[in-house]
Amino acid sequence: MDETEQILNTLVRRPRRLRRTAAIRSLVQETHINVSSLVLPLFVSSAAQEPVPISSMPGHCQHTQESLLHEVDKALKEGISAVLLFGIPSYKDAEGSSAWDSEEAVQTAIKRLKREFGDDVLVISDLCLCEYTEHGHCGIIVDGQVDNDQTLEAYVKTAISQAEAGADMIAPSGMMDGQVAAIRDGLDSEGFYDVAIMAYSAKYASSFYAPFRVAAESAPAFGDRKTYQMNPANVKEALLEVYEDIDQGADIVMVKPALPYLDVIRAVAESVNLPLAAYNVSGEYAMVKAAALNGWIDEKNVVKEIITSIFRAGASIVITYHALDIAKWLKEP
Ligand code: PBG
Repeated sequence: MDETEQILNTLVRRPRRLRRTAAIRSLVQETHINVSSLVLPLFVSSAAQEPVPISSMPGHCQHTQESLLHEVDKALKEGISAVLLFGIPSYKDAEGSSAWDSEEAVQTAIKRLKREFGDDVLVISDLCLCEYTEHGHCGIIVDGQVDNDQTLEAYVKTAISQAEAGADMIAPSGMMDGQVAAIRDGLDSEGFYDVAIMAYSAKYASSFYAPFRVAAESAPAFGDRKTYQMNPANVKEALLEVYEDIDQGADIVMVKPALPYLDVIRAVAESVNLPLAAYNVSGEYAMVKAAALNGWIDEKNVVKEIITSIFRAGASIVITYHALDIAKWLKEP
């Protein structure tokens, strides 16, 4: 062997050496799914007498207070301590006033979860009006348009009612301008300095939310959400939205959806030092479930690959409806 050939061999064989056995592959693996970095979204209903399966999201249901407690208990036993709560209220009106009603599903659930599990559970409360308004928009409508500033007042009332119930973290998802500053100010004025804000900062006007809107009964009755959610074609704008939210006091920022927006996750991860959450949304979940139920893909391996990719892109937290399954799969030998 001459010298050139030897050098070539040395270099050429490196990948093969590092992939030869499972032990070597796992030794050099760059990204791992950490169960304690997963957040499990759950739906709780004021009306349901028993859990109502969600047709668009197999494996998830609209929980009663009892079944929610049971589900959270299961999650805690699997090592998942963070849950994100969405409510299906007993009544809807033009202002979405059931969002800040202390007797409604989310507030009741927060109280019960914190009473039952204390600080073992991290309760994150989604904050939006679309589940609570009769028109299904994320804010209050004036002259056929969502009125940003009136909506902020409703968000502040909702945040305070969730904090009073005991929420550890508020996650405003309505994409109104100034929502983080308004909520921070409202929480502080009531003494809730320690309640954190996870801001849905770069939330796109995505068609991937459709299964969620069935689950939360929150589809808009007219129009769409393009005047307040982001254009899927933009990435620089995502950075502006994230910087805005950090200036306003966000503790965690978010990109949503996740899988079709890995480049956005990467760009944000490289530009900010706050924890970055990515939301693996209902449409991403439903596509995997539908294909798996048809036997077209291997659900376990596809889910692990997707979630690993979201972490690899730069997310430090992943919100996913697959969280419980993942925790179970990762325990398998
Ligand atoms: C409420 C909200 C939505 C989602 C989270 N919070 C729906 C929407 O904006 O229409 C979507 C979550 C998912 O699809 O999993 N604004």
